Amino acid sequence: QVIHRKDYKEPDFFVEKVELVFDLERDVTNVKSRLFVAANPARGTGKGDEVFLHGEDMKLLSVTLDGDRLASSDFTVDAEGLRFAAPGANFIAEIETQISPANNTRLEGLYVSQSAFCTQCEAEGFRRITYFPDRPDVMATFKVTINADKASCPVLLSNGNLIDSGDLDGGRHFAVWEDPFPKPSYLFALVAGDLACVEDSFVTRSGRKVALRIFVEHGNEDRCDYAMDSLIRSMKWDEDVYGLEYDLDLFNIVAVSDFNMGAMENKSLNIFNAKYILAKPDTATDTDYELIESIVAHEYFHNWSGNRVTCRDWFQLSLKEGLTVFRDQEFSADQRSRPVQRIKDVAQLRARQFPEDGGPLAHPVRPDSYMEINNFYTATVYEKGAELIRMMHTLLGPDGYRKGIDLYFDRHDGQAVTCDDFAKAMEDANDADFTQLKRWYSQAGTPELTWQGEYDADAKQFTLTVSQKTNPTPGQPDKYPLHMPISVGLLGADGSDLVAKTVELTKESQEFVFDGVSEKPVVSFNRGFSAPVNVMTDQPDDELVFLMGNDSDAFNRWEAGQKYATRLMLAAITEFEKNGGDANAALDGQGDSIAAFIDAMRATLCNEDLDKAFRADALALPGEEFLSEQRKPANPEAIHQIRKALRKRIGLGLLAEFDATYRQNGSNAAFTPDAASAGQRALRATALAYLVASDKVEYADLAAEQYRTADNMTDQMAALSVLNHLDHPGRAEALADFEARFAKDGVVLDKWFALQAMSSRDDTLARVKDLMSHPAFTMRNPNKVRSLVGAFAMANPRAFHAKDGSGYAFYADRLIELDDINPQVAARLCAPLGKWAKYDADRARLMKQALERVLAKPEISRDLYEIASKSIAS
Ligand code: ARG
Ligand code: ZN
Repeated sequence: QVIHRKDYKEPDFFVEKVELVFDLERDVTNVKSRLFVAANPARGTGKGDEVFLHGEDMKLLSVTLDGDRLASSDFTVDAEGLRFAAPGANFIAEIETQISPANNTRLEGLYVSQSAFCTQCEAEGFRRITYFPDRPDVMATFKVTINADKASCPVLLSNGNLIDSGDLDGGRHFAVWEDPFPKPSYLFALVAGDLACVEDSFVTRSGRKVALRIFVEHGNEDRCDYAMDSLIRSMKWDEDVYGLEYDLDLFNIVAVSDFNMGAMENKSLNIFNAKYILAKPDTATDTDYELIESIVAHEYFHNWSGNRVTCRDWFQLSLKEGLTVFRDQEFSADQRSRPVQRIKDVAQLRARQFPEDGGPLAHPVRPDSYMEINNFYTATVYEKGAELIRMMHTLLGPDGYRKGIDLYFDRHDGQAVTCDDFAKAMEDANDADFTQLKRWYSQAGTPELTWQGEYDADAKQFTLTVSQKTNPTPGQPDKYPLHMPISVGLLGADGSDLVAKTVELTKESQEFVFDGVSEKPVVSFNRGFSAPVNVMTDQPDDELVFLMGNDSDAFNRWEAGQKYATRLMLAAITEFEKNGGDANAALDGQGDSIAAFIDAMRATLCNEDLDKAFRADALALPGEEFLSEQRKPANPEAIHQIRKALRKRIGLGLLAEFDATYRQNGSNAAFTPDAASAGQRALRATALAYLVASDKVEYADLAAEQYRTADNMTDQMAALSVLNHLDHPGRAEALADFEARFAKDGVVLDKWFALQAMSSRDDTLARVKDLMSHPAFTMRNPNKVRSLVGAFAMANPRAFHAKDGSGYAFYADRLIELDDINPQVAARLCAPLGKWAKYDADRARLMKQALERVLAKPEISRDLYEIASKSIAS
């Protein structure tokens, strides 16, 4: 069953107030709800009209309207929900249901994680708790009473303010929470359990003192400092940069082990995947710290961009997600290094969103239809949506953007609105016309840009001709030109900018003339990745080397290096395929190019003026997944062998420099997670990885030594992740040590599972199969599944795409198994099989076979069916 955006209708009835009473028990929880229902005047509904309340997988005990209990003939219940006739335009409905949190393996609605009760309601989980118009344009105030066993659940939390609590008979107690802000049901949350609490506070700029609490399992209290610090910095940043202040006296975060996604912005009660809260130096890497910072900020920022102003319907998801991702990206850029952050965000966009946009699951930022909305929490809605907001920011400038934001929150506070409403506020505040820009909301596919420059020495004029084209995507055969800002630099021979300017591309092909250009320039195109496009034009090697060394735009320095490396590797891959699989001979064919590239890398590595984190990024080669996107058919084995052989040459070519970098960047100081220290560790890890890639055994020994002596997880993982691909005894030793140390530590042990799934060794699939029966592994925990099964398919192209199809067959079995436990996670993991069209005929056939087997599963979920069927179709 497909739901279409064009079919949107306002609700027939609103619920203005909800009172919920939970009698918490693991196996049978009773939920009583009182709904204050009001007909929607715009729909002209009233007495006698049908009231529909969503509801799934519950036992309905009773329905009472205005005090009269309905006979079973007065209502109908089916798989979707409950229907009855309205007793009047305004009435009170009382509904009693039973649910079973302990048996809720989907982790949607109310479920049990470890020993605690918790909820996940976005997008449509509330309907698994009680019957309700579970759609974001129905906003109600919530009053929630929780009754539970006092010993096992001393902590009882919901949204808003605690207004009452006390003891009950039978060892039970209760708490009453009231949220004064009307909200959609997807923002409801409840937590009950025996949790430890870490506390701090924040005073808002108007003087409101907010208590900040992070709840974690006992024993993890010493892993909350960084999340708390990130929260405080986020609250300050939102005041400073957006003028947005927190609106209650309490802000709670709860970390749980079992969670389908990253985290959830429930009003004043954010619930997190524990992985994105817990950190101390010896359990978390710099990357973990970064993710914690950005996700804590992301969820906090949702309080305005999501909660105070929410989505009218789920097609508008990017209204809150695109905007909030843009906000968290900018927060991180301000907290750390702006160019390094941009590089990370673009690399992520290219690795996840571009393939999505070019594959069978391509959809616009604002989709037109869906079967299961949980399948649309995608890189397109999130990351491409953020790029769209970023383009508005670039086009309007920071002040104009802020004027638009102010008008948006002013105009729509307390409302459920659309992406059009957002764009309209931006336009109105700036007298801008975004008619064409808004095409980014509706048109799927990554635009391809080509450009051509012509220099007229007499006129001192440089003419840049830019063309754009977007390829057809499923359901969208015809594409139109988009409006986008293109930041351009024209560099003189001394490396300085003759021109730095942002032009606006609106046509299919367009000329931009730059005057007063005193010499023939080198073009730096799409600086800062001002538009999220694929630039198809190849610049000559020497221009790329020049940009790598001179561009004032750090992003494009990095970009030039990526382009150079990509071109070189693609040429070598072609040669590898021709010469019957000799990687060295294939690289020899690129000898001059490689020599020049190594020289350019040396210059970057040794340039002390550059940020260390930037240098680490600039020295990294494009990944195997990225390379396979550039080839059709992609040849995972060739890509792996060429990349590996090139890394070896770079390692050997810069052995002395990497060795010196490694020795100079050690530190005796205690670990701190700040950006500068992290950058130093990243550069040192890069050096170590290249040293090991040289195949000189003393460096593998060095990695083993680093694993043994490091006092922090970042350095340990840096060592272990290079050892991971080797036969060196240090590998088994380190893995055994890691397993023993973190046997009881789910979040940390996940790294150990993932490492083994990502190993390029030949025994990886066998090992992954063995690990499925490791005592700490369970298909019921999404983090475990993602670490072992997910990492195998998504981060080990060589093993997943094994010629004999063993990787695909194993994977299909896991999807089928998982679908009965957790359809949402199963659907999310299905995407790698959908890329069959990118591969050779043999692999494509095996991948399709695997998909067919998935589709043949009896009682396949709507979630998995949507992804598998769309994947096989195109
Ligand atoms: N709104 C959350 C966030 O981006 C994501 C939760 C979505 N969960 C889901 N099951 N669809 O912060
Ligand atoms: Zn979000």
